[in-house]
Amino acid sequence: MRAWTISEIGGELRCTDVSKPGLRGGGALLEVLAVHVPAYTREVVSGRRNYSFPAPAILGPGCLGRVEEVAADVFNVRPGDLVLNTALLDAGRVDDPQEILVGWTGVGWDGTPSDETRAMQAAWRDGACAEFALAPKESLVTLSGAEEYPDPARLAFLGWLSVAAEGLVRAGQGPGHVVTIVGATGQMGTAALLVALARGAARVVAAGRNRSTLDELAQLDRRVVPVALTGDRAADAAAILGAGGGSDIVLDALGMVPGPDATMAGYDSLRPAGTMVLVGGVRHELPLPYGQIMRRRQTILGSWMAGPSTVLTVWELVRAGLIDLDVLDVRRVSLDDPGAGLRTAAESTGPHFAALVP
Ligand SMILES: NC(=O)c1ccc[n+]([C@@H]2O[C@H](COP(=O)([O-])OP(=O)(O)OC[C@H]3O[C@@H](n4cnc5c(N)ncnc54)[C@H](OP(=O)(O)O)[C@@H]3O)[C@@H](O)[C@H]2O)c1
Repeated sequence: MRAWTISEIGGELRCTDVSKPGLRGGGALLEVLAVHVPAYTREVVSGRRNYSFPAPAILGPGCLGRVEEVAADVFNVRPGDLVLNTALLDAGRVDDPQEILVGWTGVGWDGTPSDETRAMQAAWRDGACAEFALAPKESLVTLSGAEEYPDPARLAFLGWLSVAAEGLVRAGQGPGHVVTIVGATGQMGTAALLVALARGAARVVAAGRNRSTLDELAQLDRRVVPVALTGDRAADAAAILGAGGGSDIVLDALGMVPGPDATMAGYDSLRPAGTMVLVGGVRHELPLPYGQIMRRRQTILGSWMAGPSTVLTVWELVRAGLIDLDVLDVRRVSLDDPGAGLRTAAESTGPHFAALVP
């Protein structure tokens, strides 16, 4: 089969012929239908993101697939099922969590790779950027009825929608809340916006830099209020406050920004008893005001990836028409030219995303 392989982090991503994976205990063999190629995949391949995975390997991260065969000890998916493969594998130790994203990264208890995450990656080495993928059962969620969905490539975006939904669920988003999304102009921000609307937000303040993407987001629903970020914390906070009248929930979905100011402008709009959830890729310490958080009973929390029940809820929102994936612009890329695929991904943001369709 053909696959996107990388011989070392920082090396070139190539389309190569490799053996189709064999089935083994705890796994399911998938025909890969579509992979969402994140906008920042080039940074993962180049090593700029400092992700950790063994190489050589087939690049991850997850896919929409059709189950071809399951091992004798796998009961959560069946041959023929359409599944979302989240790539998330948890070692299952409650006292010492160890998690990996197959073909992408690993995170031990202290937030960095550990001997255990490296061993898990050695056991489940290859990701899903290929014609077929072997996936651990824990990362698979059956999407009942998805065989009738007219354009499976769109369903590859369920992964980002699920990550965003997990953040909003953890933050306790309820109907009627004002939700501010910092970095709404990215793909994760747009995913969060679609989920927040579907979950009954009264208003979604979409804060981001890119004005043409903000215009596109504002067209999606009359509850969306765009705010163009300037980089000045006080000015941005005032604009977010003016647009939403104070945020019940702030979800930060920024990428690798130069500093914490945009995140803190979101925090500055948080109401008493409000919650800020950090989902993005910011790599800076936040100057959090202890007294404000204490007196105003606010919550700051993090959210990583998504569990199976959140994935299922998101799929049901799509199935019910509460999230309309037709608003997304899917840019199909093929296995043949990984360089072009990575370029397309990097140029896609907001409601535009690259889907690898083998
Ligand atoms: N928590 C999790 O489980 C999880 C899962 C997947 C991804 N992530 C993280 O989510 C982050 C966002 O992913 P994505 O797919 O949305 O990436 P993306 O499409 O590249 O979006 C990046 C966002 O960051 C903004 N941004 C970049 N540089 C900026 C700057 N200098 N000032 C202000 N804004 C800036 C962009 O704004 P403009 O477009 O307006 O310039 C855009 O809104 C990633 O970095 C990733 O680490 C987290």
